[in-house]
Amino acid sequence: MTKPLSLETAGTGVPLVFLHAFPLSMRMWDAEKARFSRNFRFVAVDLPGFGASPNVGETHDMELMARSVLSSLDQNGIGEPAVFAGLSMGGYVLLQILRLAPERVRAAVFAATRATADTAASRENRMRAIDVVTREGAASLATPMAEKMLGATTRSENPDLVARVRNSIAAADPEGICAAQRGMAARPDMSPILTTISAPSLVLSGEEDGLVSSAEMKEMAEKIRGSQFFSIPQCGHLINLEQPPAFQDHFLHFLKRKVL
Ligand code: MLT
Repeated sequence: MTKPLSLETAGTGVPLVFLHAFPLSMRMWDAEKARFSRNFRFVAVDLPGFGASPNVGETHDMELMARSVLSSLDQNGIGEPAVFAGLSMGGYVLLQILRLAPERVRAAVFAATRATADTAASRENRMRAIDVVTREGAASLATPMAEKMLGATTRSENPDLVARVRNSIAAADPEGICAAQRGMAARPDMSPILTTISAPSLVLSGEEDGLVSSAEMKEMAEKIRGSQFFSIPQCGHLINLEQPPAFQDHFLHFLKRKVL
């Protein structure tokens, strides 16, 4: 069952739909909203259990998240094919959207994400994180997780962003965190879908990303026919927050060359 998601839209034109990382919210796309709503219809959602979107149960699997996004777009009259951008968990959801409704995807932007399923070790880490969050709350994750997500350059040169990411993690709903962790742990290997993608695709990676390496993302890009791949220097996992101009410029250039 899906429940309507909290959704924000600004501007007019081709819809660009942004899917956020775990355990953040649509607020991570505020800079993109400001820039892209000048020429496009910017759309961002809070995935189930994050920001202002409700929890739906114990496990939010990636398919449920994808179905929730599609029905929320329908409810908001956004039925036409859109450009979808997913960062990390948002990318897992985007792969499910491509499986369920490829006709809705006019173009795809994959940032700091992967198509493969969790390893046994990552599943165990998720179960440990669920334990900690259930006992101690989301704040207990904030510092270690922000450290892992942000690149070395951001950690040493951008304390404001480090604090912002920490605060966003600490503000996340523990139930939403646990449900998404269970959903990500259960996600299937989506690699076979990569060779079927016909929408123009852009794949972006951060050179300092300790969670998904540029080498892994390059391999993913090589499986998507005609995709463009860029690895952004001085950048960790949260590409658009760590290097906003590079993220946005690659995005806009891609739209101009491959989509419009
Ligand atoms: C994210 O940034 O969304 C997470 O790293 C995804 C994950 O935990 O696999």
